[in-house]
Amino acid sequence: MKIITAYQEFKDFRNSIESVSFVPTMGNLHNGHMALIDKAKSYDSHVVASIFINPLQFNDASDFNNYPKSIDDDIAILSEHGCDSLFIPDSSILEDIEEIKAPDKALYLCGMNRPGHFDGVLTIVNKLFKIIKPSRSFFGKKDFQQLTLISNFVKENNLPIEIISVDTVREQNGLAMSSRNNRLSESDREKASKLYKTLNVIKENSYNLSYELINKHKDELIQQGFVVDYLSACSPDSLKNLEDFNSRPILVAIAASISGIRLIDNILID
Ligand code: PAJ
Repeated sequence: MKIITAYQEFKDFRNSIESVSFVPTMGNLHNGHMALIDKAKSYDSHVVASIFINPLQFNDASDFNNYPKSIDDDIAILSEHGCDSLFIPDSSILEDIEEIKAPDKALYLCGMNRPGHFDGVLTIVNKLFKIIKPSRSFFGKKDFQQLTLISNFVKENNLPIEIISVDTVREQNGLAMSSRNNRLSESDREKASKLYKTLNVIKENSYNLSYELINKHKDELIQQGFVVDYLSACSPDSLKNLEDFNSRPILVAIAASISGIRLIDNILID
C-alpha cells in the first residue's frame, strides 16, 4: 500500500492513476470501516483511503484531542484488506479551505446539539474530493445524516462522484461498531447494546408508532443511565420528525451517551 502525506505528492500521484474509489475516515479503524474498504475493492478501480482527524467537525476541544489514534494498526488493517493507497494529510489541508455551509437538514438530529458539525464535515469532504477526484466514494449508514448531507451536496453541486452507502457493521451484541467503543468499559459496552435493541423494538411495533411510545423508550434508556441526546422517528429524506406515523419509510435514529461516551445508531422502517 502506498502511503502519501504530502498534498503535492498526492496530486502528482493522482495523475498516474485512472478511476479512484475513495473511503474517507478519521482513523482508529475497525471492521465498520473495513466494510467500506471491502465494498470499494469490489469495484475495478484504485482504492484510496484517507485518515484525517478533522478539527472543523468537533465542537469540543477535549473530544478532538482525545480522539483515539492507532496509525500503525490502521496501516496494517488497510493493507490486509487490499487498500491500494492511504492519504494522511497534515493540518495544512485546512489552509485557505473553502468553507461549506450545510443546509437546514443539518440542524436536526445530530446537528441539534452540535452546531457547525456538518459544516465541518462537508468542508473537509469537499476538500478531499477536490484532491482525490474519486469516481465513487463510500459512506456508512451508521452516520445516516452525514451520508444524506454528502449525497445531497454531491447532487446539488453536480460533482461527478457516485456516493455509495454501506450497511452498519455491529458487534455480536448488536452495538454499532465505532471508534468510541474502545473507550467503553466492559459493562457499558454490554449496556450500550440496549440502543440497537430499542431501535428494533420500535421497528417491531411500527404499526402503532407514536410519540408516547418513543418517549417511553427514551425514559427507559434514561433510567438505565443513558443521557439521551435524541430518539427520533423522522423522514429519511427531510430528517424532520414525523407528523404522520403511517407514512413509510421511517428512519428511527438515536444519539445517547453512556459514561460520557456519545454513541449513535439508526434503523430504517420500510
Ligand atoms: P469516521 O467516523 O472515521 O467514519 C468513516 C466512515 O466509516 C463513515 O462513512 C462512517 O459512516 C463509516 N463507519 C463508521 N462506523 C461504521 C460501522 N459500524 N458500519 C459501517 N460504516 C461505519 O465519518 C467520519 O469518519 C468523518 O465524518 C469523515 C466522513 C471522514 C469526515 O471527516
